[in-house]
Amino acid sequence: MNEAAKPPVPGIGLTAKYPEIDTGPCDTAIYHEPAVYAKELEAIFRRAWYMVGRVEQIPHAGDFFTCDLPTFRLEILVCRDRDGGVNAFHNVCSHRGTMVEHRAEGHSAGLFTCRFHGWSFDLNGKCAAVRDPEGFFDLDKGTLGLKPVALGIWEGFIFVSPVDEPPVSLADYLGEQGRDVAGYPWGACTQSYQFETEIGCNWKLVVDSPAEVYHIPVLHPNSAAPTMMASGNPFGRLLDVELKGPHRTNSHYSVMAEPKPVQKLAYFHAAAAQNVAQADRGYDLPRGINPARSPWWTVDLITFFPGLEFTLSAHMYTAHQVWPLGPNRSLYRQRVFVRPARTAAERFGQENSMVEFRDVVMEDLSTLERIQRALDTGRIRQFHFHDHELALRHQHHVVTRILADWDRRQGSEGQHGDA
Ligand code: FES
Ligand SMILES: [Fe+2]
Repeated sequence: MNEAAKPPVPGIGLTAKYPEIDTGPCDTAIYHEPAVYAKELEAIFRRAWYMVGRVEQIPHAGDFFTCDLPTFRLEILVCRDRDGGVNAFHNVCSHRGTMVEHRAEGHSAGLFTCRFHGWSFDLNGKCAAVRDPEGFFDLDKGTLGLKPVALGIWEGFIFVSPVDEPPVSLADYLGEQGRDVAGYPWGACTQSYQFETEIGCNWKLVVDSPAEVYHIPVLHPNSAAPTMMASGNPFGRLLDVELKGPHRTNSHYSVMAEPKPVQKLAYFHAAAAQNVAQADRGYDLPRGINPARSPWWTVDLITFFPGLEFTLSAHMYTAHQVWPLGPNRSLYRQRVFVRPARTAAERFGQENSMVEFRDVVMEDLSTLERIQRALDTGRIRQFHFHDHELALRHQHHVVTRILADWDRRQGSEGQHGDA
């Protein structure tokens, strides 16, 4: 790389753009206290929408997949009906409550039949057949359908709500962030793989993990650092951070100056497959992606509060989902989406990106349980966030504000109730 092409080292000053965000140390109580966690479930998690899959998974009538919302222990069945609509139901039989559909995905000729006593339900959830109905007492089949789950579709992603009457619409939940990244070629990345793991830490630590790159040169010297940091960006600074209500975007910088030999092969011979965009800097992408329109852009981390993050380049993306299971326990699911490879070189580039990304995540996750152990002792009372750890400071700010509002509302309802 010649001198003229050398990128500037990104500066300090991200937090100053947002005067509502405090710059002092942050209290760590929200990362481990059981009472805080209980409140978060009500004030945050029951009010959110959750991405469970994509419409391409069920292109034809009768196609279905099953999934769960681990925080709420809810089993969900999603299917395509004969009118082309997408429906979601609690995957729970109305006879005695076992799971109706056990398979992860598949095609139904029109009925889902419970494997306990054989009741069946159609693609619209109606109870279609009860075995030996004469033996029951005044059964009204019309009331025995699968319980519908509130569902919304955004950019081909299927979202569901854990409550019967969502307090906000899906469009309002996604807000400005949803509008800013609409139009990305989500549907072109039709191939995917996923893994999940339970981690012994609070959900916010998992969300924080990819949300700062201050640690990359130190924690990821062989995986991410050679392409994302190198000598042009020794402190791992970001290009930009945009805060949008509870959501946010981190824009990442790359110099690609010091790739390892295999990285070089993968990135330079399969431009359209790589995680790090080299040829295409995303100028044609929606305004919310590479918002700075920087020639040094590589990937954005698009966050939808509380627990959905997309790492997204011009050519592929990864969905990270974080599910709280307790004050110091979380489930992490990662699903990578790529375009079908057209050449062996592209396939190689994709595989390299996926393996590299998996390695980065493994390096990250082992650190988190150690942090949680320290938090659980109650002896680490404050975090000190760097300017380029703004996303973490923002998450702390959002959670603290929501919990304070919740306390105020509960307090005033209590007062009205007492009156
Ligand atoms: S529990 Fe499903 S038919 Fe009995
Ligand atoms: Fe990391």
